[in-house]
Amino acid sequence: MQSNHQTGTAPGKLILCGEHAVVYGQKAIAFAVDLTTKATIRPRTGPTNVRRVEDSLVQEAAQMVLGPNWEVSLTSTIPIGRGMGSSAALAVALVKARHRDLTFDSLFQSALPVEKLFHGNPSGLDVAVSARGGVLLFQRPCQLQSLACPSWQVVVLDTQQQSSTAQMVRYVDSQRPRVDSIIDQIGDLVEEAAKTIGDPITLGEILNDNQRLLAKMGVSNHHLDELVRLARHCGAYGAKLSGAGGGGVVLALIEDPEPLLVQCNRRQVPAWVCRPWS
Ligand code: MEV
Repeated sequence: MQSNHQTGTAPGKLILCGEHAVVYGQKAIAFAVDLTTKATIRPRTGPTNVRRVEDSLVQEAAQMVLGPNWEVSLTSTIPIGRGMGSSAALAVALVKARHRDLTFDSLFQSALPVEKLFHGNPSGLDVAVSARGGVLLFQRPCQLQSLACPSWQVVVLDTQQQSSTAQMVRYVDSQRPRVDSIIDQIGDLVEEAAKTIGDPITLGEILNDNQRLLAKMGVSNHHLDELVRLARHCGAYGAKLSGAGGGGVVLALIEDPEPLLVQCNRRQVPAWVCRPWS
């Protein structure tokens, strides 16, 4: 019997270095993680509908990618609104479900308008990582370099605070020209990080500098700062917010995750070990 459904799966991401500055043409480094969104689509007669989803933007995204006459089911393990690329993964998964064997460029160009629907002025970093996987050095509009997958691991610490990337990007825009030199300094850090990606000690210092600049920019907050301090106290080489900030997650580059995981468990902070995923 022939199956009448099609599926597409796409990963979430973590930004190692360079969020926000990447919106203004600086480079950033991000990597795919082993958390995914899967879209299953089946033909139906009538308007396209995403089952059991109230969010009107998600309905609009499905309509945008698929046109009419589809029923969509979504499953995802990517936390929503935490800067881990859930909307980009949704966009890429929908495009992959509809179109087989797309080149990276076609996949990127088809998914980016959907990301724009969610975030207004995305750099394209999240879509690029979700579409390509692995570790990427990215520059707007879509200049990519795949970096060798490093052997280090990170611990992700979740503030459990949702934040809106669109709002945070608008906030940074409202802070210009005050933040222009910070944007340039973050760009310089990313260049250094790309050269030392295999050396967790040097990379950790770069992440700490990046966090300091993000805090100066105004996108960190009390919860994020506290988790960054905790991670460093538990031996992280470096720790910073990852994503748009204002909530979401902290990424900690750490040799032995155990003490940090124990402390997070004690404080009821969700935390887990993550590696770059190709
Ligand atoms: C969001 O994951 C990363 C930002 O730099 C926005 C973007 O790149 O589109 C804050």
